[in-house]
Amino acid sequence: MVRGAAIFGSPRNGGHSTRLHEAFLGELTGVSFDRLRVYDLDIRPCTACGFCRGEFGCIHDDDMARLYGRIAESAVVSVSMPLYFSSPPSPLKAFIDRCQVFWEARERQGVLAVTSRRGFFIAVGGGRYRGMFEPSLAVVRHFFRTLGCEFDESEYILVDGVDGEKDALPNAYLARAREAGRRCARLLARLTNDTIPRP
Ligand SMILES: Cc1cc2nc3c(=O)[nH]c(=O)nc-3n(C[C@H](O)[C@H](O)[C@H](O)COP(=O)(O)O)c2cc1C
Repeated sequence: MVRGAAIFGSPRNGGHSTRLHEAFLGELTGVSFDRLRVYDLDIRPCTACGFCRGEFGCIHDDDMARLYGRIAESAVVSVSMPLYFSSPPSPLKAFIDRCQVFWEARERQGVLAVTSRRGFFIAVGGGRYRGMFEPSLAVVRHFFRTLGCEFDESEYILVDGVDGEKDALPNAYLARAREAGRRCARLLARLTNDTIPRP
């Protein structure tokens, strides 16, 4: 079965970004997803020790070290998060930083340079201001390129202004997340015909 990594960046399990993410995943019935809730994982921050420059692995013996193989096998990588200070919440940023392992593997061997998997992103912000998602989009762009993900930013679900009086998520966004899931399922059929390079 095709595998996927669904990375949940919110501490709120029933929160907006999680609900949207589940709506997206619900359409990808042919994919076996590892649901990675970064707030529940032991992920130590990258210390720039340089270990992964030499080999595919990390000096930290934590949950992240055990996830590299699963991420490498994933044909879909989806990320959802609330906006914290216009950025990814710190446990999610630690997760992404620890994927330096993939960046170094690519530098070393040229693997993962080929587009071979699909990336998808969901972000929710309580406020509404110009350019509020730009810093996170840049981080996720870099992350997906490092993993060798193909992505289309125009399809991302970016929701602003949810911390209003009713703290409500308009149903239209859930419908969009489901539609994005269906599109992703169609694209996967093409992507999984290609070989996914292993680090
Ligand atoms: C520490 C913290 C920082 C936040 N910073 C921002 C921010 O910079 N911009 C914004 O629009 N909303 C900000 N918010 C609001 C959250 O993005 C918002 O409540 C979001 O809906 C939560 O998503 P969730 O329901 O998926 O957890 C912040 C919330 C917290 C707790």
